[in-house]
Amino acid sequence: MSLTPAEQFRQFAERECPHDPLYQAICRQVATSPALLTLLDEAPPTQRKPVLLLAALHERVLAGTDHPLVAYYASVGGTRAPDAELPALLLDFVAQQREFLLNSLRSRNTQTNEIGRCAALWPALQAIAARRGNPDLALFDFGSSAGLNLGVDAYRYDYGRFQRGAAAETGRPVIQCEWRGEAAPPPEASGFRLVERLGSDLSPIDLHDELAVRWLRACLWPSERERAVRLNQAIALARAAGHRVQASRAGLDLLRDWLKQLPPGVQPVLFNSWVLFYFDRESWQRHVEAVAALVREHGLVWLNAELPALHAPGLARPAVPPDEGSATLWSLQWAEAGELRHEALAWSHPHGRWLQWLLP
Ligand SMILES: C[S@@+](CC[C@H](N)C(=O)[O-])C[C@H]1O[C@@H](n2cnc3c(N)ncnc32)[C@H](O)[C@@H]1O
Repeated sequence: MSLTPAEQFRQFAERECPHDPLYQAICRQVATSPALLTLLDEAPPTQRKPVLLLAALHERVLAGTDHPLVAYYASVGGTRAPDAELPALLLDFVAQQREFLLNSLRSRNTQTNEIGRCAALWPALQAIAARRGNPDLALFDFGSSAGLNLGVDAYRYDYGRFQRGAAAETGRPVIQCEWRGEAAPPPEASGFRLVERLGSDLSPIDLHDELAVRWLRACLWPSERERAVRLNQAIALARAAGHRVQASRAGLDLLRDWLKQLPPGVQPVLFNSWVLFYFDRESWQRHVEAVAALVREHGLVWLNAELPALHAPGLARPAVPPDEGSATLWSLQWAEAGELRHEALAWSHPHGRWLQWLLP
């Protein structure tokens, strides 16, 4: 059963940002204010989610708006804790910035490009290379935003108790993740090579466009400064690497063309993370069927990182980790003798804070 907009904001406050007092306070206020709730009516139906409104507000803060509300935003140096004045200040800020906010809500997508997800992408690619007996992978990131997850092999990983000395190197993001599997994470040396990589998105973020990059930053949560640091590092690396991200409005056409021109002997991998969440049910159904056809016809492996309900119907879903809001399920689909196979690889925090690896 779908939630009302007010319920969505309340649920977001309780389950998605229990450690973020500012976002909790804003979401609770939006849930009780028709004037704020109706703002999201301006967004396309599939984008009417709390994160879009939160990002639109944050974008105005990052734009340098002169208003007392910005004192609550750590991303611009604010240190004020949510208090009794916040509701009135928020309403005033929205009234002052209304046209800008409506413009973002009408024209922008939630585009959080979260390299924390590489904490799961990295071992997942190793698992694919091992299973297929082929270290040469070609990675297609569907809904890649700015394409920062295409740099998965450029980042360093620190898996908590499996700390392997992932010491900071200048300019190289270190992704910290609590590894919850019984088995140890894969060794530091990659078991795969990315011989080709391409991103596609409805509206790719051009990393040389400052306004687009500001939107990317606005999609992060203002209190999470370590995410902002590693985002900046990833942006700098991506600008230098120049991994391609192409605009794609026609579903999987770009992937079909890309598969046809790959060098022989490489294992193509279709990856998506937190993209199908923005599909309506019919589009999701069509997408899953189209992917299955490509898996059968092109030896494609599909690495799907989404909420459990958005995985292929043939997957046996593992038990959801207790007390974890919006845990991301990572699964594989591939074909053997024309038959589709499925395997659950991992659960993870949506931003990669923890990873429960399910393989032995
Ligand atoms: C929440 S972001 C996730 C970005 C990236 N996958 C990540 O994990 O960091 C969702 C992205 O999906 C893109 N998107 C949404 N619907 C899409 C579609 N039908 N085709 C391609 N991209 C889409 C949005 O533009 C946005 O960049």
